Amino acid sequence: MGSDRFASLKGRAGRVLLAVSGGIAAYKAPELVRALVKGGHNVRCTLTPAAERFVSPLVLSTLCGARVRSALFDSTEEGEIDHIALADWAELVIVAPATAHLLARMAHGLADDLTTTLLLATRAPVLAVPAMNVNMWRHPATQQNLVLLRERGVRFLGPEAGELACGWEGEGRMSEPSAIAAMAGLLLTPPTLAGEVLLVTAGGTREAIDPVRAITNRSSGKMGFAIASEAARRGAQVVLVAGPTSLATPLGVRRVDVESALEMQLAVQRELVSATVVIMTAAVSDFRVAKPADRKIRKEDLPPGAGLSLELVRNPDILKQIGEEKGRRIVVGFAAESHDLVENARKKLVAKKCDIIVANDITREGSGFDVDANAVVFVWPGGGVEELPLLSKLEVAGRLLDHVEKLRDARQGGAPGTKADG
Ligand code: CTP
Repeated sequence: MGSDRFASLKGRAGRVLLAVSGGIAAYKAPELVRALVKGGHNVRCTLTPAAERFVSPLVLSTLCGARVRSALFDSTEEGEIDHIALADWAELVIVAPATAHLLARMAHGLADDLTTTLLLATRAPVLAVPAMNVNMWRHPATQQNLVLLRERGVRFLGPEAGELACGWEGEGRMSEPSAIAAMAGLLLTPPTLAGEVLLVTAGGTREAIDPVRAITNRSSGKMGFAIASEAARRGAQVVLVAGPTSLATPLGVRRVDVESALEMQLAVQRELVSATVVIMTAAVSDFRVAKPADRKIRKEDLPPGAGLSLELVRNPDILKQIGEEKGRRIVVGFAAESHDLVENARKKLVAKKCDIIVANDITREGSGFDVDANAVVFVWPGGGVEELPLLSKLEVAGRLLDHVEKLRDARQGGAPGTKADG
């Protein structure tokens, strides 16, 4: 199972049809083919007639190992694989770059060349990666075409803002090939969590002492971000409530930034209504300063040589509250322990009414805070314990979500958690 899971973490490799249209960003097409091939995908390419002016078919066919197609009525090309068979062959179609003209043709269902014909004929998901001049992008005609295409299920990535080849600055740059390849992996992964709404919390909270100082902890948020990323890859709708962290938002995840435990509690309460699965990885501060100072506390304002005492009050236990009103939701808690790992985790499992507690030994080297690996133990109601070896946090996320799926499947037939349940 371990190696299978690892393969799925990279995104399932599949048959990808890359349609390149005629914009200057087509020069990145060879790099994109390389990134896709490196990801294990079987890649075929088509070029629109305009794209042939920007990128050599020979380069692309050498990189993907198959003849590049551009003509609809070419008997040699059609003889090898006809265009309908090519449309059926694809498990994912990527249009990159997608020019304003190609998006317009897609939106209006034209089939006036090989690429647009394939796009009409295929039943595979389509990912469009726009690249154009900023004014063309913002033009109402383009924006309305996007609305139409989105309604029909076309997925979009970018465009990014920056310096454009045409000399203008603004949105219009094609997303990087590595990001497109990552998105391809995501779209090809079987959507085993489709229909689920995951609420994940991550990172530590920051409790203000004064406007510049705070009480916080060493949690990096990496575990929660890995879970959010893997859940999105499996087709879940994911809301990530994150304490202060510089980590990038995973693809396809909606992020809500918070600072203190009270802010996290509020955000969680708001999102809980639609959540079917809740995973609390956040290291919530158990205490906050009773009366944070409005102004910076200065040594000079204290008697000479005097220390400073802070009065701390208890923060709400967010997970415990979720446990109280969980309804049919699957609730996962985390427990960071320095001793009596399983025993303490079991107490938390019962006290917070969780379906699983993921416990980790924070004293173990190479595992836990601010590193990419974690050695965890799953603790179940009824006394079950499963000890995992030291794994990457992404792999731990995969193992955890496998269990969430099993629990969901075992409960199948019941409606997901709603406010009325709680
Ligand atoms: N948690 C929470 N709200 C808090 C404290 C913790 O929701 N105020 C959640 C964490 O997100 C985690 C779980 O509870 O999923 C366990 O947190 P931990 O701090 O390890 O346990 P505590 O219950 O705070 O117990 P202790 O600090 O005494 O070990």
